[in-house]
Amino acid sequence: MYELTYQSEARKKVTQKDIIEILESARRHNKINGVTGCLIYYNRRFIQIIEGSKAAVQETYQRICEDRRHKEIQLIAENSTSERTFPEWGMAYFPIDEGKINTNELKQFRNNINLLAGFSRPSKVSGIMFWVKVKALLAEPPGFYDK
Ligand SMILES: Cc1cc2nc3c(=O)[nH]c(=O)nc-3n(C[C@H](O)[C@H](O)[C@H](O)COP(=O)(O)O)c2cc1C
Repeated sequence: MYELTYQSEARKKVTQKDIIEILESARRHNKINGVTGCLIYYNRRFIQIIEGSKAAVQETYQRICEDRRHKEIQLIAENSTSERTFPEWGMAYFPIDEGKINTNELKQFRNNINLLAGFSRPSKVSGIMFWVKVKALLAEPPGFYDK
């Protein structure tokens, strides 16, 4: 078993519709390839952990890196592991309605992610760093990078 965490930034022209398409295609491919993990999208930043066989994880990451819908892709950590942090494909994202951020929705989103973080027991660097990065990202106010 292998796991990898990276972060990236959505390109300017990427819309909510593109995000939904990314999620759909990721789920479809991951099911076939036995890949699981978690993808967080907030403030136009992606943080994702993918886990599965070493070959499947590396092939998937290769494909993700070639995707033109995001940029500034930064590998955070990769390592072998004895068990998956996310045995079920988990996904959470905050649907940003450009310029109109609902504080309740944001609170709910943060709560859900904290709950998920509390349940998961990462044992290796990729899993640990995934949550460190997610928590740092969520501590930012909405629209942090918009200026
Ligand atoms: C932020 C982000 C996360 C992605 N995550 C995955 C993933 O977990 N698994 C995957 O196979 N593709 C993922 N993709 C999509 C791939 O980059 C690529 O578009 C896809 O595999 C091609 O799918 P298609 O058959 O729909 O053309 C991701 C793309 C982006 C931008």
